Amino acid sequence: MSAKILSGTEIAKVIRAELKEEIAELKEKHGLTPGLAVALVGEDPASQVYVRNKVKTCEKLGVKSIEERLPADTPESDLLSLIDRWNKDDEVHGILVQLPLPEHIDEEKVLLAIRPDKDVDGFHPTNVGRLLIGNPDFLPCTPHGCQQILLRSGIETEGAEVVVVGRSNIVGKPVAAILLQKAKGANATVTICHTRTKDMAAHTRKADILIVAAGKPKVITADMVKEGAVVIDVGVHRIGKTESGKDKLCGDVDFDSVKEKASAITPVPGGVGPMTITMLMMNTVRAAKMRIE
Ligand code: GUN
Repeated sequence: MSAKILSGTEIAKVIRAELKEEIAELKEKHGLTPGLAVALVGEDPASQVYVRNKVKTCEKLGVKSIEERLPADTPESDLLSLIDRWNKDDEVHGILVQLPLPEHIDEEKVLLAIRPDKDVDGFHPTNVGRLLIGNPDFLPCTPHGCQQILLRSGIETEGAEVVVVGRSNIVGKPVAAILLQKAKGANATVTICHTRTKDMAAHTRKADILIVAAGKPKVITADMVKEGAVVIDVGVHRIGKTESGKDKLCGDVDFDSVKEKASAITPVPGGVGPMTITMLMMNTVRAAKMRIE
C-alpha cells in the first residue's frame, strides 16, 4: 500500500490562517505590527529564493518586513552594525541573517550579536541552550516545522523510536532536542545518525519515525525503512528542469520506493519546505507578543 502523503503545504495553510488572525488582533488591540528584518549577504541563488519567499509570506500575513541585501564583500563590521541597529529598533521584533554567510564573515560572531529575544531563527547560543534545558523561547524553524507536521497529522511521538539522519546545528541536532523534550508532541526515544555512524541502515530500520536531514539526494532507500514507518524528508536538491522550465526537486529520501513501504511520508516539494517559513512567521508573532508581555 502506498503511504499517506503528509502535505506541509496544507498544514502550513491552516497555521498561516491562525497566525493571520493573531496578527490582526495584535494590530487592533495593541496597535502593534510584528516586524521582521532579514539580511542577505551575497548572491547565493538558493538563499535569494528563500529570502524572497520569506518577505512574500510576511506581506501575505500582515507582518512588516525589512529586507537588506548586502554585497558578498561586505565587511563583517558592517553586518554587525546593521544587526546592532535592528537590535535597538522597536519596530523590529525579529532578526534573521540568512545562512550560509561568505567565508570572511564569522557566523558564530554574527549569531551571537543578535538579541536573543529577537532571534526568530533560534540560533543564538542562549536559545539553543534554552531548548536543551526544556525552556525554549524560540524553536528553530525547520525542526519545529517537522514537529508540527507530526503533531497536526495525529502521529504519536510519545515513546516512539525516532531516528534522525544528520547532525547539523540547523536541523539534525535541534530536531532531536525538540522531540526529546518532556512535552506534548515530543517524549520520543531519539537516535542521531551521521556520516561516521557504523551501520546506518541498522538504525534507520528501527525507526517508527525517520527524520532525514542528510543533505544528500535520495540517500534513504526502501531497504533502510521499516514497514509502516513515518518518514519526514528535510532535504531539497535541484535535479534539473521540468518540461515547463521549473526547477525539478528531490529530497534526501528516494520517495518513489520509500512511499511503498512507509505509512506516511512528506513529499519534496510541498513537505517540510512550506512549514519552515510558517514557523518563522510564528516566531515573529511570538517575538512581538513578548514585547507586550
Ligand atoms: N539557511 C538555511 N536554512 C536556514 C534557516 O532556517 N535560517 C537561516 N537564517 N538561514 C538558513
